[in-house]
Amino acid sequence: MSRDATLLESLRAAVGESHVLTDPDLRATYETDWTRRWRGEATAVVRPSSTDEVVAVLLACAAAGAAVIPQGGNTGLVGGSVPRTVNDGPQVVLSTLRLREMQPIDALAGEVIVGAGVALAALQAHARPAGFGFGVDLAARESATIGGMIATNAGGIHVLRHGPMRAQLLGLEAVLADGSVVRRLPGMVKDNTGYPLSSLFAGSEGTLAVITRAHLRLVPLKARRAVALLGLDAAGTAVALAGELRRSLPQLAAAELFFDAGLELVLRHTGAQPPFRASHAAYLLVEVEGDHDPTGVLTDAVAAASVPLDAVIAGDEAGRGRLWSLRERHTEAISAEGVAHKLDVALPMARLAEFIDRVSLLVEETRPGSATYLYGHVCEGNMHVGIIGPAPDDEAVDDAVLRLTIEMGGTVSAEHGIGAAKVGWLEADRGMDDVAAMRAIKGALDPGWMLNPGVLLREGG
Ligand code: FAD
Ligand code: MLT
Ligand code: ZN
Repeated sequence: MSRDATLLESLRAAVGESHVLTDPDLRATYETDWTRRWRGEATAVVRPSSTDEVVAVLLACAAAGAAVIPQGGNTGLVGGSVPRTVNDGPQVVLSTLRLREMQPIDALAGEVIVGAGVALAALQAHARPAGFGFGVDLAARESATIGGMIATNAGGIHVLRHGPMRAQLLGLEAVLADGSVVRRLPGMVKDNTGYPLSSLFAGSEGTLAVITRAHLRLVPLKARRAVALLGLDAAGTAVALAGELRRSLPQLAAAELFFDAGLELVLRHTGAQPPFRASHAAYLLVEVEGDHDPTGVLTDAVAAASVPLDAVIAGDEAGRGRLWSLRERHTEAISAEGVAHKLDVALPMARLAEFIDRVSLLVEETRPGSATYLYGHVCEGNMHVGIIGPAPDDEAVDDAVLRLTIEMGGTVSAEHGIGAAKVGWLEADRGMDDVAAMRAIKGALDPGWMLNPGVLLREGG
């Protein structure tokens, strides 16, 4: 029997025939990423429904020398969740979508244990009746899974209040390449017992272990919210105002920045009405939350702002949703224009406005005629740079933007990860010694480089 046939037979024994997908039509959505920039062919897609089945899948793959690509909701934006284009041996996509157990909310502690394949929106719906929310939120909430969000250490719109995914993690269960199961479930808030493996796996992008379950902290649900969209004359004014509001508004839950080109694109894509009579160079969207209606507090803070601005404020759900969609729908509006080059960088706050002013000019110099859209989470200095124009495999604009980021003291991945997209940039950002330490950890936990090879760390070397 051929190596692939033996592999398929043991995968079927592990998870059942109907959960080993080999038909190209059934595999297709697992083989192309959300951006359509990354795709590769899988020998099979396997869909285990328990930790024991994940163990059996990894043992089967190890025996066959197959690479394993863990995949959750496949909303990742750096090519880490799909098979590689060029690979020597068999590649198996391990989909976690059937790991969707949700244990009852522990209301006393404000915590919950869930399976890695649970979607963020499902977790939010599970926690809400008990009076809890989840500290991380992002626009891909209907599809992004808890396992994928841990593996990428996802950030999103509430980092300024609750921190990224790693900060929500009390413990987890994960399967290593040799089939052993590391488990800190339940985890404790205070736990100094040895190396914090859960933190290590947060941001490991499927290269160290397959996460199967997670113990998460929840946050009190704030019943009342208000949103303001502020039109401003320049990026520098918007960044300064975000800093001012962070100080003056303890209830601040989100602060998002975008620009006129992106707003125009979203309006064209969605058919929504312009929020202001005249357009502005920059837009700052801020959200406040509280147990009582915070609209008045927000209105007062906006009125006291030290810079000239135009404002629309919404306290009702429909109005808030309309304002948020102008920001959240940037991603899909850009993707509707073509296959985008997507960079996700963070700059020191003091240099963010300068970066914003320089980056569009840099893209124009590098590939004239490209369209550049900037938007992001301003309080962390996190800008998303979406570029339409250059061919998907032309990396000149990506390289130019990432080089500028490093020159200005920033980081090449703020929240999406390194993936397959930026492996060439890890050392320039982190330095040789850091990368050598990461490779040592990888070699110790996955000596055969079976888990997501080619992602985060360059193979070989
Ligand atoms: P996938 O895309 O399936 O996988 C992502 C990575 O995690 C891959 O490397 C994969 O191998 C690994 N992985 C997945 N599951 C596991 C597991 N169980 N064990 C080990 N490794 C695993 N990201 C942000 O940080 N902030 C945002 O605001 C944000 N907004 C977004 C908005 C839109 C519209 C879209 C499309 C994406 C957005 N993202 C954002 C990116 C994406 O949603 C996140 O990276 C998310 O965490 C990915 O989750 P996923 O389940 O889709 O993971
Ligand atoms: C966002 O903040 O909208 C996301 O991280 C997705 C993107 O970069 O487009
Ligand atoms: Zn983002």
